[in-house]
Amino acid sequence: MRVEVVENYDVLSLRAAEHVAGLIKSKPKAVIGFATGSTPLGLYRQLIRMHRDEGLDFSGLTTFNLDEYIGLAPEHEQSYNYFMWDELFGSINVNPELVNIPLGTVDDIEQYCQEYEEKIAAVGGLDLQILGIGTNGHLAFNEPGSSLRSRTRRTILTADTVASNARFFESADEVPRHAITMGIGSILDARQLLMLAGGAGKATAVKASLEGPLTAMMPGSAMQLHPDVHVYLDFAAASGLEYHHHDGIAEPKG
Ligand code: F6R
Repeated sequence: MRVEVVENYDVLSLRAAEHVAGLIKSKPKAVIGFATGSTPLGLYRQLIRMHRDEGLDFSGLTTFNLDEYIGLAPEHEQSYNYFMWDELFGSINVNPELVNIPLGTVDDIEQYCQEYEEKIAAVGGLDLQILGIGTNGHLAFNEPGSSLRSRTRRTILTADTVASNARFFESADEVPRHAITMGIGSILDARQLLMLAGGAGKATAVKASLEGPLTAMMPGSAMQLHPDVHVYLDFAAASGLEYHHHDGIAEPKG
């Protein structure tokens, strides 16, 4: 695991964007998994800037998003589909035909989830998966207790996730209780993981994920199983770590 700790969110976003841009330049037809939430917004703003000012070309990219609320149509303002077009895809030159975001309004969810997995496999798998982490340690909507080998499926949001995501809705009652999410196993199949966390609210989940025991109760700990993980943290999110992590080596602080 390579962990880079930087002074603040802006630097974290820039470093993450340089990482993603580096992949796109070396592999213009890369397959990249995107995340929603507040954390990657700075990264997305940087990618938009790189497209506008530096001509970073996204046209060959195939994208897959991690998750979507069940029951929200793509045009719903709180859907993750809407979020991705509003915050990133609408401002860069992605080919809409190569953009894949789970659809929260399908009838046969099980069949749809299997097809989503097959679609990822058909393009050769993900080169990179961008991840945030929940304060409870969830990756995508894999809440604590999710199998470490889980695949894309329907999940139930925990009460703390509903409470946390209520900030985007009129009230907590409006937050969907179910989601389609890529599984932990599906995420671990990506050739590289890029995990971002900022703020003191993430410090406990970051410490448990990077230095705690491997357990389904802390989905972020599954990253310990992956051979190529890059983590970008600001000082606050890294504040609970007891080790410096660099080049796959964990070295006690002090
Ligand atoms: C988003 C996702 C979630 C978020 C996590 C952190 O697609 O799957 O796991 O990454 O809830 O959210 P923020 O970044 O808003 O703190």
